[in-house]
Amino acid sequence: MTTDTLGRRLHDLRISVTDRCNFRCPYCMPAEVFGESYKFLPKDEILTFEEIARLTRIFAGLGVSKVRVTGGEPLLRTDLHLLIQMLANVDGVEDLTLTTNGYMLAPRAQQLKDAGLKRITVSLDTLDEEIFRQMNGRGFDPTRVLDGIQAAETAGLSPIKINSVVQKGVNEHTLVDLARHFKGTGHIVRFIEYMDVGNRNGWKWDQVVPAQEIVDLIDAEMPLEPVESNYPGEVANRYRYLDGQGEIGVIASVTQPFCAGCTRARISTDGQLFTCLFASRGISLRDPLRDGADDAQMTEIIAKVWSNRTDRYSEERTDLAATQNAPQKVEMYQIGG
Ligand code: GTP
Ligand code: 5AD
Ligand code: SF4
Ligand code: SF4
Repeated sequence: MTTDTLGRRLHDLRISVTDRCNFRCPYCMPAEVFGESYKFLPKDEILTFEEIARLTRIFAGLGVSKVRVTGGEPLLRTDLHLLIQMLANVDGVEDLTLTTNGYMLAPRAQQLKDAGLKRITVSLDTLDEEIFRQMNGRGFDPTRVLDGIQAAETAGLSPIKINSVVQKGVNEHTLVDLARHFKGTGHIVRFIEYMDVGNRNGWKWDQVVPAQEIVDLIDAEMPLEPVESNYPGEVANRYRYLDGQGEIGVIASVTQPFCAGCTRARISTDGQLFTCLFASRGISLRDPLRDGADDAQMTEIIAKVWSNRTDRYSEERTDLAATQNAPQKVEMYQIGG
């Protein structure tokens, strides 16, 4: 078993398969920055499906059993189902899932399920049409995302999780509606505290709605009680409706950091290994891979990075995080959250 300097094992792998996205959420890829002329990664710098599958096999050999495919928007990667098929066949991968904005999901859900995808997480910050248009930066309304969720349900990609990033003064007043919409459907809405990921979203503490406030808002209308975690290191705190109509989660990475149980490695679109969502730099796995390193050598590189890992950014977060002098961080769209 591979453990880091704080005794945390390597259990999950999150792989970004594209740095592109069809949305321009202001907190992730503001349209003013990511315009027509923005240069995304050229094809030859992006890991191929074969490279991703090989790395996944190597990570599985180091103890990874949970794999999440992310982006940008992963459904923009051509023939993504072929990658899912390859990953589903990796020995040791027990949980294989995907995080998507859901906009292009409806026609693809069954194909992904058939390829071996087990479940899916769909980002949906609000059901309010006007606020959703603003929050996706492209003026899209939520109907197609809801159709995608429906198609995922029909295909059996369950349990479906719905991620909602909560920003004070933006969508906070629409949370109860979102929770109510999915209550009784078996889908689990998870409210995420707005985080200072990347360098471009101008994050400030006063834009965060603390998870406890989120729970209180929902509990006041639809009573809740806390539930035990499904597994050690689960990022969401779980609550169930007292009337038995399902559960919600809150991801309190700002007010109740969970670094102590953080078992996640991330691979960026261009094949760098990041050991924290807030890291300043990654270690290239693509370079040794393309230089001909064998599996044993790759295993050694990864094990060394993990065993030297000291990251606990959210536990150390200070006001410095929001200042100009803070170190540069990797962007969300490069590592997929
Ligand atoms: P399951 O609960 O197994 O479905 O997976 P998960 O909780 O890893 O799901 P998901 O990827 O949807 O995580 C939800 C969000 O929580 C992410 O998109 C991030 O915004 C945040 N998150 C996940 N992992 C971390 C982490 O290690 N650190 C921090 N700070 N935030 C995280
Ligand atoms: N804070 C919290 N969550 C974020 N996400 C993107 N940017 C942020 C942020 N700054 C969410 C996305 C998606 C997941 C990958 O992370 O909405 O659900
Ligand atoms: Fe795209 Fe997700 Fe970033 Fe929004 S948060 S721009 S959907 S990658
Ligand atoms: Fe893990 Fe870094 Fe998030 Fe802490 S801040 S939980 S170390 S990814």
